[in-house]
Amino acid sequence: MSASQELEKDATNFALEAVRIDKQGAKGMAVTMYQKAIESLLKLVQLYPEYSLNKVYIQRAIAYQERIKAIQGATAPIGPHAEVREGEDTKTTEGGKSSYEELIVQEKPSVKWEEVVGLDTAKRAVKEAIVYPVQRPDLFPLGWPRGILLFGPPGCGKTLLAAAVATEIDATFLSIDAASIMSKWLGEAEQNVAKLFGSTRKSAQEGKLAIVFIDELDSLMGKHASEVGGEVRVRNQFLKEMDGIVDKGKNLHIYVIGATNKPWDLDWAFIRRFQKRILVPLPDHHTRLMMLKLYTSHLQLTTDVDLHELARLSEGFSGSDIRDVCQSAQLKLIGEFFESGQATDKKATPRSLTMDDFRQILEERKPSVSLDMLSLYNRWFEAFKAL
Ligand SMILES: Nc1ncnc2c1ncn2[C@@H]1O[C@H](COP(=O)(O)OP(=O)(O)OP(=O)(O)O)[C@@H](O)[C@H]1O
Ligand SMILES: [Mg+2]
Repeated sequence: MSASQELEKDATNFALEAVRIDKQGAKGMAVTMYQKAIESLLKLVQLYPEYSLNKVYIQRAIAYQERIKAIQGATAPIGPHAEVREGEDTKTTEGGKSSYEELIVQEKPSVKWEEVVGLDTAKRAVKEAIVYPVQRPDLFPLGWPRGILLFGPPGCGKTLLAAAVATEIDATFLSIDAASIMSKWLGEAEQNVAKLFGSTRKSAQEGKLAIVFIDELDSLMGKHASEVGGEVRVRNQFLKEMDGIVDKGKNLHIYVIGATNKPWDLDWAFIRRFQKRILVPLPDHHTRLMMLKLYTSHLQLTTDVDLHELARLSEGFSGSDIRDVCQSAQLKLIGEFFESGQATDKKATPRSLTMDDFRQILEERKPSVSLDMLSLYNRWFEAFKAL
C-alpha cells in the first residue's frame, strides 16, 4: 500500500471509530478520534498537495472539527456553579433504548505516550501505579491503589492520557462516559454499573490486567441525572463496586481511572476511593512550545514563524486550544487555496503558513480556561492531592 493509501485508510478508520464512539455517547474519546482523523487528513493534503480528492478531505476535516465544537459546546463544563443545560444529552438511540453493550467502548484508541505532551508527573504516577504492582505484586503486602483520579481544566489531556494508558499497557480497557450512563441508561443505570464492573472482574480473573476508564466522573454525582432518585442508587452502586475491587478483588489487577474537570462536585466518599489524585494542569511555556512543535510538524511554515514567540502569545491556552490554533491556521490557508481557484491547477501548491497567519488566529481567540478557574483547581489540588 502506498503512503497516501495508508494515510487515507487511517483517516477513514479513525473517522468511523469516532462516529461509532460518538453515537455511544463517549464524548471525550469521540473527540480524540475525530481529532486523529483530522490529523491524518491534513497530513495527507500536506504530503500530496496535488491530489484530486483534497477538496473532499478538507471538507471532511472541517466537518469533523465542527462536530468536535458541537460536542464540546454541549458539555461546556466550566466552573463549580455551571448551569445544566436543558435537554442536554437526553437523546436515546433508536427505539428509545440503549443497551449496556452500546455504551461501553472496548477498542483501544491508539494514542501513544509521545503524543501526550508534558504531563510528566501525571504520566509517571499512572505508570507507577499500574506497572509496578503488576510486575511484583509480592512487594505490595498492603495492596496498591486501584483508583486514579485525573482532574484539571478542560482540554489539557485527561482523556488523551487515559487513551495512551490503554494503548501502551497491555490490558483489557473498558471506557465509559459517566454522563451517558446517567442520561441514557435511566432505570438500568445501576445494573449496568454492576455489569461494567462484573465484566472487568471476569477479564481480570482470566489473568488479564483490566482498566475501567470513567470519563466525566462528576456526572455520577447526579447533578445531570434525568431520573429522580436514580442518581443516588447509581452513585452507591459505584462506591460499592470500588470497595469490591479493594476487598474481593484484592489479588486481581483491576484499576479504575476517573477523569473530571469538576472535582469540586465530588464528595468525600468518592474522593477517598481514588487513592491517587493527579492534577492535569494547563501547559506551561515549555510544554506549549512542544505542543506547537508537534502540531506544526506536518505543516509547511515560512522561516519567520517563531514558535517560541507563539508559545509566549498563547499563555493560558490549553493543549486543545493550541491544537485548534494550528489546525485553524492550516484549514484557513487551504480553504483560501481552493477558493482562489488555484487548486484546479494540479501543479499548484498552497503557500506556507506565516507568523501573521498565526497571529491573526490568536487575536481572534481567548484562552478557554480563565484565571479564576485555575485558582479553583489549584485550591482543590492543595486540599485533596494524593500523588
Ligand atoms: N498534553 C497534551 N498533549 C498533546 N495534545 C493535547 C494535550 N492536551 C490536550 N491536547 C489536545 O487537546 C485535545 C483534547 O484533550 P483531552 O480530550 O485529553 O482534554 P481533557 O483534559 O480530557 O478535557 P475535558 O476536561 O474537556 O474532557 C486532545 O485530543 C489533543 O489533541
Ligand atoms: Mg476529557
